[in-house]
Amino acid sequence: MALKNYMSQLIVVICSCLLATASSLNFSFPAVFNFGDSNSDTGGLAAGVAFPVGPPNGQTYFHEPSGRFCDGRVVIDFLKDYFKQGLYMLDVGQNDLDGAFNSKTEDQVMAFIPTILSQFEAGIQRLYNEGARNFWIHNTGPLGCIARIIATFGTDSSKLDQVGCVRSHNSAANNFNLRLHDLCTNFQDQFPDVNVTYVDIFSVKLDLIANYSQYVVVL
Ligand SMILES: *[C@@H]1O[C@H](CO)[C@@H](O)[C@H](O)[C@H]1NC(C)=O
Ligand SMILES: *[C@@H]1O[C@H](CO)[C@@H](O)[C@H](O)[C@H]1NC(C)=O
Ligand SMILES: *[C@@H]1O[C@H](CO)[C@@H](O)[C@H](O)[C@H]1NC(C)=O
Repeated sequence: MALKNYMSQLIVVICSCLLATASSLNFSFPAVFNFGDSNSDTGGLAAGVAFPVGPPNGQTYFHEPSGRFCDGRVVIDFLKDYFKQGLYMLDVGQNDLDGAFNSKTEDQVMAFIPTILSQFEAGIQRLYNEGARNFWIHNTGPLGCIARIIATFGTDSSKLDQVGCVRSHNSAANNFNLRLHDLCTNFQDQFPDVNVTYVDIFSVKLDLIANYSQYVVVL
């Protein structure tokens, strides 16, 4: 019992010192990369391998388990302000659509797109809840122009468009991008303190492929 009391007092002292140090630091590092155990993990283990971190963890500060092995916050949480200043770059869609075409028809892939994007929306919402404010979001490129896709799905030339890319895959990418653009607009409207930059990777890559001759450098 005595030992238990001593240990808990020691932990309180260590925590107080850590917090005092964190708040008096002139903390000008633009980012924090934390490698540590449950004393500093803000949710990596729970998010990465679905490790169950149930109640009473989180009950005092977050009012629910938050992936931290702690009733309140951990050290990293006190450096959190800096998450706001970071740029969160997201590049999505290609592997989801590519994988879906292996087992689904074009219509089924199209019907699946809202499901992919609802997962993405939940993800950026979660980043926002953790403090992220600056988002740089790439749309998906012209999947149907990838050589592997043309070799697999484009052996029948009627499946190809005028550029020589697989029409179904590029239609799906276009459909995905229209919806992603709407999602970005809605996210920006919903949260005025956010900066969302939607980057049209599709057009840049398609231009490179369709107009490659304009970009050839003659040595
Ligand atoms: C913190 O450090 C930065 C960069 O070294 C400096 O520009 C800034 O004035 C410092 N702020 C305070 C409050 O000391
Ligand atoms: C959004 O970006 C603009 C221009 O870079 C900047 O002036 C503004 O402060 C940013 N807003 C937020 C919420 O970060
Ligand atoms: C190819 O270049 C032409 C002329 O610059 C442009 O109008 C067209 O949109 C480009 N094609 C693609 C697919 O970007």
